[in-house]
Amino acid sequence: MKAFETDSWKNLKKHFETIKNNRMLSNFDHPEHLKTFTFDFNGIYFDFSKHRWDVEMLKYFVDFAEEMQTRQAIEAMFTGQLINKTEQRAVLHTALRQLDDKPVQVNGKNIIPEIRKAEERIKSFTGKVLSGQWKGISGNPVTDVVNIGIGGSDLGPKMVVKALSDYRNHLNIHFLSNIDPFELDRLLDKIDLETTLFVIVSKSFSTQETLTNARKIQGIYIKQFGKNAIAKHFVTVSTQIDKAQDFGIAPENIFPMWDWVGGRYSLWSSAGITIPLAIGFDNFQKLKAGAYALDKHFRNEDFHQNLPALAAFLTILYNNLYGFETEAYIPYADKLQYLPDFLQQLIMESNGKSVTLSNEPVAWQTGNIVWGNTGTNAQHSFFQLLHQGTKIVPVNFIAEKQNKNTRFKENHKMLLANMVAQAEALMMGDVNKTPYKHFEGNRPSTIILLDEMTPESLGTLLAYYEHKTFTEAWFWQINAFDQFGVELGKRLANRILEDFKQLTYPHDSSTTALIKRIID
Ligand code: F6P
Repeated sequence: MKAFETDSWKNLKKHFETIKNNRMLSNFDHPEHLKTFTFDFNGIYFDFSKHRWDVEMLKYFVDFAEEMQTRQAIEAMFTGQLINKTEQRAVLHTALRQLDDKPVQVNGKNIIPEIRKAEERIKSFTGKVLSGQWKGISGNPVTDVVNIGIGGSDLGPKMVVKALSDYRNHLNIHFLSNIDPFELDRLLDKIDLETTLFVIVSKSFSTQETLTNARKIQGIYIKQFGKNAIAKHFVTVSTQIDKAQDFGIAPENIFPMWDWVGGRYSLWSSAGITIPLAIGFDNFQKLKAGAYALDKHFRNEDFHQNLPALAAFLTILYNNLYGFETEAYIPYADKLQYLPDFLQQLIMESNGKSVTLSNEPVAWQTGNIVWGNTGTNAQHSFFQLLHQGTKIVPVNFIAEKQNKNTRFKENHKMLLANMVAQAEALMMGDVNKTPYKHFEGNRPSTIILLDEMTPESLGTLLAYYEHKTFTEAWFWQINAFDQFGVELGKRLANRILEDFKQLTYPHDSSTTALIKRIID
């Protein structure tokens, strides 16, 4: 189906032409504008009102979603159809957080029992580590956990562990992702090998960075403590049981991954095992419960108030009608420091595609460029461009209304005042006769205000972003769940590594010169 040839899209576009030059502020003249575009869900306030759209446009968007058979697309995902067509896989991160035991079939097999089994294993494993029952090679309990993984096997857990700092227990948690030895060197200086547990998270158990780092550390253990140490200090999450066993990991310490969970959607699975280690199994379950609440909302709610659908409408509005190419994510919460990184993978790896579901080149713009940093820091670096630059960047502000655990409540108020002020300034602007002091305004933003950062509210927020990404992909008719675009660079890197030993491959002259520069 060609989204941008549907009748509903044509109607939407016609309406767009009539409002595109309006000031956003004038939309509030409509008595229902604020009510139509603000929502309360599961302890989170969503404000989509400061945007260049109006109540009428929403109706056209809803018609568009319906004509695009979005409801059927959502059902296809939730019911395990093979919607990741290029890889012939189901996409069922939602099954991982389904709280009831209603069967979910993949190729005729109900996957809920194996999910429950995996949960039980994670529960018992984290229980042993946290209670001190799990002992290292010298008989001492674990003090430090290192998550070795990259991309989806790193960004989700890392982001969640920081976001839920208030729920942390006694374990020190570290993340090792890059092949740059800088981090590995620093990590090894910091930890005590006798009391450290390494969690290798790699769906494929073949990612260069992850496996290289893991093997270097494995080598150190074998040298220092002998082969037996491996089973006591390494566990893994992978689909590749044989490879993991060859590494020396005990079968009972290999936690399952499934091909129906994509890396960037996997924090809800065993791939997120560092999360229950950091905040306890019960809180991990609460995180999933928050996501499950949003899943039900997404699956059942009318598109007029369907939060991920609304967010996706905005992406389409800006990307495909206004022609804005990027979107910024600015958490006014240091806890969410890694949210922009996580969203970059989620959104850009999912939707950075140029062929349709029927394998034809797209004739329209797809995935946005996602970027951001925490406020207020960002105000003092790139906000100048947001306010007075020639490019328009829709901004997503995220904050928590209260931070119960701080001793400095006044600071928290200042933080929020800044966020509210930025959104207001972006929309209102400021008329000044002196050109360089003039703020044009009319710049859009979404505000997401969590009552409080809890496992539940974070789970809801993350599921919202996942489904927003899925809905955008559906409108663009692209596959959000493969990532062939990362392969070429990986292949070339292996070849170049060989060329570092002896330059044999005929590269372009710039690359050859660079290789020579490195190896000389
Ligand atoms: O290179 C991209 C990627 O495949 C991501 O999609 C994935 O999250 C990451 O690498 C890690 O993969 P794995 O879990 O197999 O090590």
